[in-house]
Parts: sequence; structure tokens; C-alpha cells
Amino acid sequence: MRSQFATSSLLSVLGAIECALAASLSDVPTVNDFIRRNGASATVIGDYVYFDGGEVAQLVDGELQKEAGFYDSSPVNSTISIDISKSWTNSDVVLNTIARPWASKSNQVIWTDKGEGSFYVWGGKWVRGANMTTNELWKFTTDGNGSGSWSLEEPENPALFNGLEQYEHSAYVSTADTGYSIGGLASGWTRKYRGSNQVVPGMVTFNMETKIWQNGTTAFSPFDTVVAAAAHYVPTFGTNGLVMVFGGLAMTITEVADTAGWANSPPYNFRNLTFFDPATKESYWQIASGTIPPSPRTQHCLAGFKNNDGGYEILLFGGYNHRDKFVYDDAYILSLPGFVWTKIPQTTAGGRRYHACVAVGNRQVLTIGGIRTGWDDPDPAPQGLLLFDMTDLEWKNSFDANAATYERARDIKNWYNNGSLDTVEWSSPTVQHLFVVANSTTDSGSSSSPDANSPDTEDGPSSTPAGVIAGGVIGGIAGLALIAVAAWLFMRRRRKGDRVPTSSDDGHHHGEVAQLGSRSETSPPGYMFKPQYSPIELNTQRSHAELSGTTSYTNTLLTPTGPVHMEHVQPTPVELDASTVRY
Ligand SMILES: *[C@@H]1O[C@H](CO)[C@@H](O)[C@H](O)[C@H]1NC(C)=O
Ligand SMILES: *[C@@H]1O[C@H](CO)[C@@H](O)[C@H](O)[C@H]1NC(C)=O
Ligand SMILES: *[C@@H]1O[C@H](CO)[C@@H](O)[C@H](O)[C@H]1NC(C)=O
Ligand SMILES: *[C@@H]1O[C@H](CO)[C@@H](O)[C@H](O)[C@H]1NC(C)=O
Ligand SMILES: *[C@@H]1O[C@H](CO)[C@@H](O)[C@H](O)[C@H]1NC(C)=O
Ligand SMILES: *[C@@H]1O[C@H](CO)[C@@H](O)[C@H](O)[C@H]1NC(C)=O
Ligand SMILES: *[C@@H]1O[C@H](CO)[C@@H](O)[C@H](O)[C@H]1NC(C)=O
Repeated sequence: MRSQFATSSLLSVLGAIECALAASLSDVPTVNDFIRRNGASATVIGDYVYFDGGEVAQLVDGELQKEAGFYDSSPVNSTISIDISKSWTNSDVVLNTIARPWASKSNQVIWTDKGEGSFYVWGGKWVRGANMTTNELWKFTTDGNGSGSWSLEEPENPALFNGLEQYEHSAYVSTADTGYSIGGLASGWTRKYRGSNQVVPGMVTFNMETKIWQNGTTAFSPFDTVVAAAAHYVPTFGTNGLVMVFGGLAMTITEVADTAGWANSPPYNFRNLTFFDPATKESYWQIASGTIPPSPRTQHCLAGFKNNDGGYEILLFGGYNHRDKFVYDDAYILSLPGFVWTKIPQTTAGGRRYHACVAVGNRQVLTIGGIRTGWDDPDPAPQGLLLFDMTDLEWKNSFDANAATYERARDIKNWYNNGSLDTVEWSSPTVQHLFVVANSTTDSGSSSSPDANSPDTEDGPSSTPAGVIAGGVIGGIAGLALIAVAAWLFMRRRRKGDRVPTSSDDGHHHGEVAQLGSRSETSPPGYMFKPQYSPIELNTQRSHAELSGTTSYTNTLLTPTGPVHMEHVQPTPVELDASTVRY
């Protein structure tokens, strides 16, 4: 009797403690309890920023959380929205939570259908390898009030869809109607029972209107393989806009992308930039000038802005150098059509990777989360949110809902005003046409379209022809420069057999030394699948999940892939169902 009573009261006390602990963990900790957030994917629809997925670390009673007595971070179980119709600071911002029906993932692909007011998430890494499912595409339909609902989106071609690899670390982007996922890496964290890592070549697309999936091979993608790059859709240039891909690593197709693979794979640099026409898949390159962001760089973020002159600027922030093992705290702006990089002031809130960036409020970048060293390293940015003003080139702690229209920063303006566009050595006349010379001359001189200042990065292609862009970009001196460029182009075309335009003969604006380990120029022989399955002994130590009733936990990652993701992030044990079970 007595012992029964003792047992039941002990159980109820334990139950109460468990409840209290569970209740105290939140997807949106208070500003005082917040430590770090990472791995979320973000988009903007109407008056709201939405972000989904990832993990959060927080204080519980003044100490770093220990979920289930062990974990320093928790999977985020809600989708979160932020109202951007009102101004706020990162200390008083309201984070709305919206229920989400599947187990948490980090680093999901996010594709936005602005026209329909919805977005999709796909792929990514299952946090702790818990409750992994087969391939699923989830769709969020917004309600216009910062909330909305999730549903599973059935593919129109299920056979192809069901055969697709589940993976993370792709460069993803959406145009008005299609989502793209370029390159990537599959592992035991992304698909249940996957025994080894595998680089995913080529590019997958999802047409948000027809619901048709495609898996293009390298003929369809400008990259043989690319891992952990970032992509951006520039609606302003070309007939269909252009998709630009920045950074990442060229891992070999058969490589088991272990830590050495991350450290040693040749990086894509930020000098020779690659982009493609999303409709035709035609790809191009162009050498950029200015202060080139260092590489290797992975897990960085991008946000883009149309300016009133018909040009476009892209912010690049942070990321990781897997070769030299440090987190980047630097940021740059690439200005188009000039292909000139400008280094901007560093934030005092420190470097980060696995963060998300979105363009908000005319001319501001909102960066969400990101990790530097580990979960016990409090983010100097309250709530992990930072803002950057693209015109003033200032990092801020507040969002201004009434910020003025975006204009290029002074130094970037100067670059155009003093005729520097004229000094760009285009990689080909086709690329030059895409960016500065109109095929038709009828529009030149008219002003740019009224919505050109919209920070909307997912618009359909601009109806503004290149002539207008060029005309708007530059007046006065630079206008003359354009005429000179056109004349130069005309003369060059007449002198067939001239030197190849790519040869760099002008040290003064191409003075940058090419990045170390720039991309490999060798094209691999088709697809060859020889995954190097290094047999891995099943660790006889049991994972945390199995250790119920004991207090001895193991930090050993049981999957062959764990360390790839977890280096510099405190390792967490893996549930047994992740990929430790081999068959
Ligand atoms: C999310 O759900 C998981 C599983 O129920 C739980 O362990 C975790 O604590 C939750 N995350 C947060 C931040 O509460
Ligand atoms: C996994 O599924 C179980 C059973 O449906 C559920 O209780 C648990 O909360 C889920 N875990 C996560 C992380 O969603
Ligand atoms: C949004 O909120 C407003 C004001 O609270 C309300 O009138 C409207 O019905 C809401 N719309 C939706 C779709 O929930
Ligand atoms: C697309 O096809 C290639 C070649 O068959 C394959 O290696 C790759 O894994 C596929 N991509 C996905 C995401 O399944
Ligand atoms: C830039 O990269 C492309 C491959 O995407 C290559 O064909 C071209 O030669 C490179 N240009 C220079 C100047 O290195
Ligand atoms: C034009 O302005 C840019 C940016 O201020 C500067 O770097 C460049 O040297 C200038 N070029 C000329 C020709 O004055
Ligand atoms: C515009 O010029 C480019 C480069 O010469 C050419 O490839 C393209 O077909 C032209 N487009 C039109 C619509 O004439």
C-alpha cells in the first residue's frame, strides 16, 4: 500500500515535471529566453514573412534547455509569421505560430506562388531523424492575415515524384510558376535507411500550375554537381528573367560527402557567375568585378531588390568556409547589370550560416536565425533577427514599414554614373544583350515601370525591355557610354573572327586574382553510380532513443552522415529509425 502510494505520487510528480518542462519549451521563446535559431526557410507573401522548419535553442529557468534531459535545441513545430505592414524591433516583434502537421525538418526547399498566395516546402533534413516519411510536398495556403493552412500536394506525375531522391543542400528558387532545386546532397538524415551520402546531380523542377515534376540531368542544369549553393531569381533581365546560382561546392558524383568531401571539393567562386534562362534552360556566365566575395562559401543567404533604374541588386550574407573551417561574417552586394560586387559593412551581430534572408519593406533585408559556433552561443541579434537597409548600407535592429523606395546605395550609383558600365567586358554578345542592349529600340528613353521598386523577388519577368533598363540606368555621361557600347558591339560584330571576348586583357578592372580552387572545368562522363558504400559497423552502443530508463547517453552519431551536418553544431543523438537500422 505504502509503496504503491509512493510510486504513484512519484509518477505524478515526474509527470508534472515533464509537463512543466514540455510547457516551457516554445517555438517562439521570449526575447530573454531566446538563444539561437537555424535551418528555417523563409518567404514573403503580402504583408507577412513566413518561415518554417529548423531548430531553436532557448533558456529554461535561466539555463540552456536540456530537452529530455539532453538536447540543447528543439525542433520547431510551428510555421511562424511576422507582420510587415507595421514597424517593429527585433526585441518587440510578434512571432505568430501556425500549427504544422508533419515532423520537423531543417533546410527545406521553399517555393513561392505569389499569384496564388501560397508556398511549398520540400526535402531537407529530418531533425533528429524522427518520424521520417516518404517523399512529400507540403503546400501552405495563406489567409491574408498571417495564418493559413497546410495540405499535402499530390503530384500530377506521381511515378517520377515518388522516385525522386529526398535530399538537402540544393540551391532553390522559384519563378512565377516554377520551383527549382539545383544540385544537393542525400544522406541518412534526408531519407530513412539511406546508408551513405550521395551527391544529387542536375536539377529538379516543380511546375506550381501543372503540378508536374521533372528531373533534369546535366543537360538541363548548368551544373554537373553543386552542393550548398544559393540561387536567386532575377526577374528584370532576359525574356524570362534569369536564375543565378552563387557559391557552393562541386562535389564529385560518386563521392561519399563526408567531412573531407566538404573540405576538399572545389568551390564555385563569385567572380565567374553562372545563370540560366529558366524557360529555355540556356545557361550563361559572366565575370564580375569589384570586391569579389571569398570562396569556398556554402550555406549563405541571398535577397534581391529591383531598383528604379531598371537594374537589380542582390545581397549576399554570411555562410561557411568548409576548407578553412570558419563562419563568414561578411556581406556583399552584387549590382546588375554591371556585375560589380561591393563589400558592405559587417554586422556587429556576428557571422552565421543556415540563416534565411528575405527582402521586406521596400529596401530592407530581414535575416532569420543562423548559427555560428553552437547552440550554447547566444545570438547577439534579439530573436535571431537582423535588418539591413540596402540604400543606407546599415545593419539595424528595427524594421521600418514605411521605409522609402529602394534606391541604389551612393557608391553603387557612382559606379554607373561615372560610366563604369562601359568598362564591363561581356562574356558574349548574347549576355550583353540580356543585360544592356535592347534588341528593339522602340522603348529606349521611356521611364521604368511603376512597380520597379518593389522588393518582390518572385515576380514574373519584367515587361521592361533591356533598352528601357539601359536607358533608365544611366543618364548623361553614362548614356553616352551605352551608345559607345552599342557602337563597339556593332563594330565587333562586323569584325568577325576577332579575339574571343572572354580573354581578359584589361588588368585595371579585372585585376582580381581568381579564387583558389576555382571550379573544375572538366565535365564528368554522364552519370555513373558507384556509391562508395563504406560498410559501417553498427555501433553496439544504443542510441538515446533506446536508452529509456538509463541516464547514460551517447554522443556517438550512429549514421555515417551525421558529422557532415553537425560539425560545429553540438552533436545530438539520432533516433534509431533515422538510418542506423541497416538492411
Ligand atoms: C517539437 O515537438 C517535439 C516532438 O514532440 C518536441 O520534442 C519538441 O520539444 C517540440 N519543440 C518545441 C520547441 O517545443
Ligand atoms: C512522432 O510520431 C509520434 C506518434 O505519432 C508522436 O507522438 C511524436 O510526437 C512524433 N514526433 C515528432 C518529432 O513529430
Ligand atoms: C482577417 O482579419 C480581419 C480583421 O480581424 C477579418 O475581418 C478578416 O475576416 C480576416 N480574414 C481572414 C481570411 O481570416
Ligand atoms: C535525377 O536523376 C539523376 C539521374 O538518374 C539521379 O542521379 C538523381 O538522383 C535524380 N534526382 C533526384 C532528386 O532524384
Ligand atoms: C566561367 O565559367 C564557365 C563555366 O560555367 C566557363 O565556360 C568559362 O570559361 C569561365 N570563364 C572564365 C573567364 O573563366
Ligand atoms: C566610378 O565609381 C566607382 C565607385 O565609386 C569607382 O570605384 C570607380 O573607380 C569610378 N570609376 C571612374 C572611372 O571614375
Ligand atoms: C536578341 O538578341 C540576342 C543576341 O543577339 C538574340 O540571341 C535574341 O534572339 C534576340 N531576341 C530577339 C527577340 O530578337
